[in-house]
Amino acid sequence: MASSNSLILLLSSCSLFFVLAVARKEFALEASEQEAHHFHTLQLSSFLPSSVCNPSAIGGKKSGSLEVVHKHGPCSKFTKDTVKPLTVEEIFTHDQSRVDSIRAKLATNPLNKDTLGSKTTLPAKSGSTIGSGNYIVTVGLGTPKKDLSLIFDTGSDLTWTQCQPCARSCYSQQEPIFAPSMSTTYTNISCSSNYCSDLMSATGNTPGCSSSTCVYGIQYGDQSFSVGFFGKEKLTLTSKDVVDGFFFGCGQNNQGLFGGAAGLIGLGRDKLSIVSQTANKYGKVFAYCLPSRTSSTGYLTFGSGGVGSNVKYTPLSTSQNSFYGLDLLGMSVGGTKLPISSTVFQTSGMIIDSGTVITRLPPTAYSALSKTFRAQMTKYPLTKALSILDTCYDLSNFTTITIPKITMFWGGNTNVDIAPQGTLYANGVQQVCLAFAPNGDDSDIGIFGNVQQKSIAVVYDVTGGKVGFAPGGCA
Ligand SMILES: *[C@@H]1O[C@H](CO)[C@@H](O)[C@H](O)[C@H]1NC(C)=O
Ligand SMILES: *[C@@H]1O[C@H](CO)[C@@H](O)[C@H](O)[C@H]1NC(C)=O
Repeated sequence: MASSNSLILLLSSCSLFFVLAVARKEFALEASEQEAHHFHTLQLSSFLPSSVCNPSAIGGKKSGSLEVVHKHGPCSKFTKDTVKPLTVEEIFTHDQSRVDSIRAKLATNPLNKDTLGSKTTLPAKSGSTIGSGNYIVTVGLGTPKKDLSLIFDTGSDLTWTQCQPCARSCYSQQEPIFAPSMSTTYTNISCSSNYCSDLMSATGNTPGCSSSTCVYGIQYGDQSFSVGFFGKEKLTLTSKDVVDGFFFGCGQNNQGLFGGAAGLIGLGRDKLSIVSQTANKYGKVFAYCLPSRTSSTGYLTFGSGGVGSNVKYTPLSTSQNSFYGLDLLGMSVGGTKLPISSTVFQTSGMIIDSGTVITRLPPTAYSALSKTFRAQMTKYPLTKALSILDTCYDLSNFTTITIPKITMFWGGNTNVDIAPQGTLYANGVQQVCLAFAPNGDDSDIGIFGNVQQKSIAVVYDVTGGKVGFAPGGCA
């Protein structure tokens, strides 16, 4: 009896051991799969600038698309003589001024909740800041067409370029300044035109009138501005995409931080934006992909032709002025969902902006993000903060790093993984930082910035009321 009992005991403990061993093995397998799924392992050098242009195979060969380049990267034709690259501190200072001006612009909209109980002092005139205006596209203007590199901006509406004779002032730009008198397709817009009145909402300023020609003026939060004649001209986006009679600002008095770009292309939602002006042609659909590195290229396309089938959409909200508002519901880091209520993001609201560099989150969300990220990065030594970025690592002893994947949970069940280059911002190997920053207050609007959009194809379908994301859209 006793011996058979111990035999059973022995057998069962053997099988228990066996079961345990199998379970442990399965668990180990699962853990490494989980690890691969929730982490990126890559060369540290892929975060550092390269001096050689290596155009993206996807972006460069996409037909009917404009090439998007980083102004200060090796794929840009801007030389250091015309445009001195900004220091990291300058980039973040401009970035903060853009964020402040977006808040101010939203606060002047009576539909926005920020109007009530806002602690900020509102500027007399709203306007958006150019920020560091990092991404540019080259378009052709006039007949014969002249190439102009413009900052592309989803946060503003009016497209403008500096124009000869620069009656008051033009800053120095990379390409020759556009001369309307040399183009056979330029026309001035008269003060009585309805398009002239549309400038009011597109710029926030009442248009002027000079010898019956409509005069626009737009100022940006950082003292930059452009004032000039409102005109109409042939705009050549690509050899297949030509827009006749495109309304734009022909700037006679221009000053500010446009860093050698000839002007700006406004991709906002208001009437005069290029998106609205080309609505019949492209159905208010455009897409872009910002390159993951300054040494690569991305693209900007108009119309639904180039939109891939792997795009996941989230609804566009209508309450954020001419900005593109989205619903963020939550985030995860290395597979761990941030332990915060989804009302944190619902309270702040969120916009997607091509001109803000670093994503801004409600402070409650940012502190959870930073804490969760740090807990998964303990093998790397922390180092001092970089301006607005407070979670920084000294990676000088590493060549390969493993970092947790950050996933954004958007409305409509759309989960989007941020690329490694959208997760960390490197100021050399000794200071590599989590590339997110907190707002001052949980009620401030969140902004999904351009670092986090890197290498994701972003599709704006304004008519369809949605924005889509496809990670891995360009290199
Ligand atoms: C446009 O209007 C301005 C102001 O009246 C004038 O100086 C300029 O010559 C006009 N340009 C053209 C091409 O008509
Ligand atoms: C790099 O490694 C050296 C040698 O082990 C060590 O002394 C140094 O503190 C390390 N530096 C960092 C930033 O971890």
